[in-house]
Amino acid sequence: MDTKGLAWWRNSIGYIIYPESFKDSNDDGVGDIRGIVSKLDYLKELGVNLLWICPLFKSPMDDGGYDVSDYRQINPRFGTMEDFDDLLSEAHKRGIRILIDFVLNHTSDEHPWFQTAIRDPGSKERGYYFFREGRKANGKELPPNNWKGFFSTSAWERLPGSDLYYLHIFSKKMPDVNWANPELRERYFEIARFYLDKGVDGFRLDAVAHLAKDLSFADSAGQPDEDGFVYDTSKFSNRPELFDYLQMLKKNVFSHYDCLTVGEAGGNISPQDALKMADRQNGSINLVFNFDTVWDNGNYGSIDKGDQDIRTDVISLKDNFMRWYEVCHERADMPLYWCNHDHPRVVSQYGSIAFRAESAKMLFNTILFLYGTPFIYNGEEIGMSNVNYARCEDFFSDVGTRNDVASLRSRGYDDGKILGYLNRTSRVNARTPMQWDRTRYAGFSAHRGVNRVNDNYLSGVNVADEMADPWSILNFYQYAIGLRKDPVINEQVLEGRLEIVDHGHPDVFAYLHDGKDKLMVISNFRPYQVYFSFYYALGDVLLHNYDQVLLSDHVFALRPFETYLLRLR
Ligand code: GLC
Repeated sequence: MDTKGLAWWRNSIGYIIYPESFKDSNDDGVGDIRGIVSKLDYLKELGVNLLWICPLFKSPMDDGGYDVSDYRQINPRFGTMEDFDDLLSEAHKRGIRILIDFVLNHTSDEHPWFQTAIRDPGSKERGYYFFREGRKANGKELPPNNWKGFFSTSAWERLPGSDLYYLHIFSKKMPDVNWANPELRERYFEIARFYLDKGVDGFRLDAVAHLAKDLSFADSAGQPDEDGFVYDTSKFSNRPELFDYLQMLKKNVFSHYDCLTVGEAGGNISPQDALKMADRQNGSINLVFNFDTVWDNGNYGSIDKGDQDIRTDVISLKDNFMRWYEVCHERADMPLYWCNHDHPRVVSQYGSIAFRAESAKMLFNTILFLYGTPFIYNGEEIGMSNVNYARCEDFFSDVGTRNDVASLRSRGYDDGKILGYLNRTSRVNARTPMQWDRTRYAGFSAHRGVNRVNDNYLSGVNVADEMADPWSILNFYQYAIGLRKDPVINEQVLEGRLEIVDHGHPDVFAYLHDGKDKLMVISNFRPYQVYFSFYYALGDVLLHNYDQVLLSDHVFALRPFETYLLRLR
């Protein structure tokens, strides 16, 4: 709680770090904890005061560290436990809180629990995972059921030399753990306490929507794909027992600390279910990340489309934000974000690289003053955009993309088509090295990173150039964050009644916070001029990404991606 008894995250500005590609301190081509420490002053100056750092634990790195082989050790690629402790204390000195990424739906197959489980059928660890016998049909060996996982394969993998399969809804190197097992739960409670006792300020709870599965393991009745598998997330998402597991986490761990817990809830969670989790009175966690506002342009799964078919659906975007706001705002806090390490870069997704500065500023202004706690994804503040790689193989650092390509190739798509799709949608786009300056590899490292740096660091898309330019995206971010943290504006944003203005406008996202004061955001999402009627008494222009206000006869002419934050009279 802060001095006014408010939860501290209600006036926090979050920043998401993907450690592998953020800053490399020892020039081995991999970002690391010391690299993060070296950039804390930069982050403080930007105005952020809360970091979510993607996994730092020991891991064979099959899935960017989300495949944990030892929760209590730091991955040597990223540093040591001393480095981590140092990061905590250096961040705290600067008033920056730290959330770590807690992966509790699965472990790595190299985790000692899984190794014991497969070696010893009588072990207690055996009950930590899901092992089931396969089926036979027409002489063919088949997995225990027809479920398909998130990474384009069956959700089951056969144990070599056995009839048994284990469940993995993500990569086959990430067996799912069994939260119905009380002893397994206790293991995770201990890990959470271990980090909270060290002083971390909370957790981003990875893939938390999937902790409870349909334990009947019955086939899905949905439409099977070419291989007979059904992508039916209802079998392992937001099921009733999940809410009990989260309450147990709260009772046994979270309620004993002043910590922030942010759940990643995929699987099409409804705002009502999210409210069950995050209700201030009787919920179990504090914020719920949903995916509803990330792909409002037809880009998701768009292999059969071309770039020209992707267009932001501004009305749907407004509806999606408001759907969540209406259900949650009186009873729960919410996070706000455009992008993380799992999505394409937001400038490419909803903005335009032809209007990089205009659209990056517009997108930030639009999200920053909505109801909730904003999270910036590293590189967003300098307008980093999608890569433009030349071969599908350039994306193969990511297991999800690799599996996707294999599946598309087997379905007959040619590489040209697949490549366009990856350049538009793959999460590798968000995982290229952070662009710090104009030196080789963009000042990220003296060596090539895991993914090739985006060449646009040479044309101004880097922190050093952005700092030097008073009109840059970075300076706009810094100034905008300062405004958002102003106590009067913050209160207005969190307590004022949020309303969409001109809901039916297909190109403009405009909203108003009506309360003690009146704040209004007006944003043009198009790369061309549009018009917007305005029947209010204009007070001050607090933020604007063009020079000159084009307002006459109660109509704003909004140039490409033009945006305003206004105070009304
Ligand atoms: C989450 C992570 C993602 C990872 C998956 C499996 O969605 O954000 O990067 O692949 O969980 O852990």
